[in-house]
Formats: sequence, C-alpha cells, structure tokens
Amino acid sequence: MATQLIRPEAEAPRDTLSFEEATRVRRSIRGFLDQAVPESVIREVLEDAQYAPSNCNTQPWNTHIVRGEKLKQLSAVLHAKNDAGEFTPDFSFDVNDFYGEYRERNNALGKAYYEAMNVMREDKEGRHRAGARNYSFFNAPQAAFLFMPSFGDNVRVAGDMGMYGQTFLLSLAARGLGGIPQTALGFFAGTIREFLGIPDELKLLFGISFGYPDEDAPGNRVRMDRVPIETSVTFHA
Ligand SMILES: Cc1cc2nc3c(=O)[nH]c(=O)nc-3n(C[C@H](O)[C@H](O)[C@H](O)COP(=O)(O)O)c2cc1C
Repeated sequence: MATQLIRPEAEAPRDTLSFEEATRVRRSIRGFLDQAVPESVIREVLEDAQYAPSNCNTQPWNTHIVRGEKLKQLSAVLHAKNDAGEFTPDFSFDVNDFYGEYRERNNALGKAYYEAMNVMREDKEGRHRAGARNYSFFNAPQAAFLFMPSFGDNVRVAGDMGMYGQTFLLSLAARGLGGIPQTALGFFAGTIREFLGIPDELKLLFGISFGYPDEDAPGNRVRMDRVPIETSVTFHA
C-alpha cells in the first residue's frame, strides 16, 4: 500500500518565494524549454498538490503524468483529431455562454494571445494554428491530466479539482517552473482516456502542461490583468 501523506510538523521551507510572490509570479505559460523536469521535482509538486482541500476529503483527483515519447505520440493523435474536428469532451464548454463583463474579459485574452503570436484577427488559419499549440503542450516535455470520478452534477467535484490544480500551479511557480491549465485538452477526453487506457468512469476536466518557461517564446508575452477587488467582492456587516 502507498505511504500515507501526513502534514510535516515543522519542516524548514524549501521554496524561495513568499506566498504573495508565488501567487503573483504564477501566470499561464504558453512556451516551454525542451528540458524535462526531473521526476523527483515532479513528485514534490504532486505532494504539494495533494494537500488541496476537497468536499468531505474525497480527494477526487486522479492525475496522470505523461512524458517523453508517450507525450509526443499523444500530441500527434490530438493534432489529427483537432484538425478533423473529432471532439470527445466529457463536459460541455462554449465561449458563447459568456456574457457582459465575462465576455469582455475573454475577448481581451483572445486579443492579447493572438497579438503576442502575431496573428491578425481575420487570419482564420493562423488562429487555428495558434490554438492548436495546446495540442503540442506549448512544447512542454511533460503534462498532467486531471481526471475525476463523476458524482451528482459534478459541480462540487470540479471545485475540488480547481483547488488541486491551483495548488499544483503555485507549487510549480514557487520552484521557478511554470504551467498552464488547459480546458482544450478536455475537448479530447475520450481520445486521451483510450490512449492512456483509463476506465470510462473517470472524466477528464482539464490538463496542465508544465515545465521550464521559455522566457523568449512569443506566447509568454501575454500578461492578463485582474479587476480590482471592489469589482468582485462585497463586504457585509
Ligand atoms: C481551468 C482552466 C482552463 C484553461 N484552459 C486554457 C486552455 O485550454 N488554453 C489556454 O491557452 N489557456 C487556458 N487557460 C488559461 C487562462 O486563459 C488564464 O488562466 C487566464 O487568461 C488568466 O491568465 P493567467 O493564468 O496568465 O493569470 C485555462 C485556465 C483555467 C483556470
């Protein structure tokens, strides 16, 4: 049986960033160096993520790490499926559902990304290519696929998965690594499940490509801002 993870009592911190720094340094990385992250470091990040909270401590995350040649093979499969438009998602996703300020924020992201990639608004083929970089894992030599069991309407489980995903991403940031959560990988849940031999009852919510950021990559020129807390928060007393 696997060793049970317990909270370390008073271990000296190994990360060099403060919490405030890690939360602000973290951003979505869309260009990685062709340099594998050592397995020992991946395991440290996974152990950090394991401390994420979850409804009733169900710890519903089932994480699959794919690396090296296997990831290259999966990339080829995903590009072919994407070009053919053969989507097999477990969960629906439609940007047309966004309205008002949410739509505006999504539009701002699209504009920032395509500008960074030097793709013109009317260049459909260029936009397709820029979007398809999701299926090259933005050149990352490793990616995590976050599968979950299906309970009820799945909303609570998805919340737990988000907690886990952000803990994973902050752990990467604290170690000078980077990552990007990708709903785009979830569009091919069925394909990925079959490729990795994962049972049907586990559903793919999103993946996270991760590794050493390539600071010179055009995709990493994107910097998304945040609205002030006054826009998102209401105090009651
Ligand atoms: C669950 C989730 C899924 C995402 N899916 C994608 C994706 O498929 N492709 C992509 O380029 N970015 C994706 N993103 C990244 C968002 O665009 C990004 O988090 C947002 O623009 C804020 O920018 P920042 O992460 O750099 O702060 C996703 C983010 C989250 C949280």
